Amino acid sequence: MGTPNEKRYENCTYHRIGRSGLKVAPLSLGLWHNFGGDASYDNCREMVLGAFDLGITHFDLANNYGPPPGSAEKMFGRILKSELAAHRNELLIATKAGYDMWPGPYGDFGSRKYLLSSLDDSLRRMGVDYVDIFYHHRPDPDTPLAETMGALDSAVRSGKALYVGLSNYNAAQLKQAYAVLAELKTPFVVNQVRYNMFDRAVEKELVATADELGIGLTVFSPLAQGMLTERYLQGVPADSRAGGASVFLNNSDITADRIDKVRALGKIAASRGQTIAQLALAFVLRHASVSSVIVGASRLQQIVDCFGVTKKMSLSAEELIQIETILS
Ligand SMILES: NC(=O)c1ccc[n+]([C@@H]2O[C@H](COP(=O)([O-])OP(=O)(O)OC[C@H]3O[C@@H](n4cnc5c(N)ncnc54)[C@H](OP(=O)(O)O)[C@@H]3O)[C@@H](O)[C@H]2O)c1
Repeated sequence: MGTPNEKRYENCTYHRIGRSGLKVAPLSLGLWHNFGGDASYDNCREMVLGAFDLGITHFDLANNYGPPPGSAEKMFGRILKSELAAHRNELLIATKAGYDMWPGPYGDFGSRKYLLSSLDDSLRRMGVDYVDIFYHHRPDPDTPLAETMGALDSAVRSGKALYVGLSNYNAAQLKQAYAVLAELKTPFVVNQVRYNMFDRAVEKELVATADELGIGLTVFSPLAQGMLTERYLQGVPADSRAGGASVFLNNSDITADRIDKVRALGKIAASRGQTIAQLALAFVLRHASVSSVIVGASRLQQIVDCFGVTKKMSLSAEELIQIETILS
């Protein structure tokens, strides 16, 4: 790497994750899509280094990101080794285990056996001694909560993770897990959840519960996988997520109703001097318990665009009413 932008930490204010000592920029970069085995190293490198140059410190991974599973961690590890090794202490690297990762009874959900062996694999793939946050990726209805939380606690006690997080836990599950982790004195700081203008389920209870417990929220898919941007206004581009091989977003998700809403949101965004993506991110970031939005990207320019939200994050009461009217 050349020398990183020396003024990178002057670009935004870093907020605490919940009531922890850990601070993060309003924007984080997720490596779920576009960092797999078939991705261009040069493009991935440009995105990670470009994000770091902007002041983004938090990189969100999981054991299964790819495809194939594990390849995003390898890609990130390669970039880290050749470009950012000297900056390890400035990076907040997160990974997760909880979804299907390898065949047989030990590669899925929340057993101690799965979580701890998966963490070892993640460390190996990324070439690091520890991750900053180790998440349980989704609740496991069958494994005793004490076992899963005990595994997260062990990850910290063994020095392989500094903090732990949960993901996709609802308000009731979060409270139960919080109680177990508090008893263990585990440094549990964050719940990672989906939240965007088209999916507002967390507003019902979880946002307030996180606030009450002092646990931060990191938000995934804040742009509804790209729908809350200009990306699909002229149809479905062949190089987009919906136009490609992803099973998580396809043509049928890009409905006329959604596109109409995005166009209407575009007018509010323009009146604020923002892009649609920036408005969509400001909407999610308006809650104090939302510590950071984790965006995905296929090119650096998208990250630069999204980072622009840091210049104007507050929304007026009137703008919120206009947004509610469009979304209702
Ligand atoms: N914990 C969990 O269960 C879970 C689940 C899902 C995701 N995550 C995490 O959250 C991260 C983000 O999720 P996501 O990728 O769905 O987030 P997203 O930010 O809602 O969508 C990202 C996609 O939006 C498009 N995009 C981004 N910025 C844009 C811009 N400025 N203008 C136009 N298009 C733009 C790009 O699409 P194109 O690729 O089409 O260019 C990009 O790939 C993941 O990488 C992962 O780290 C966690």
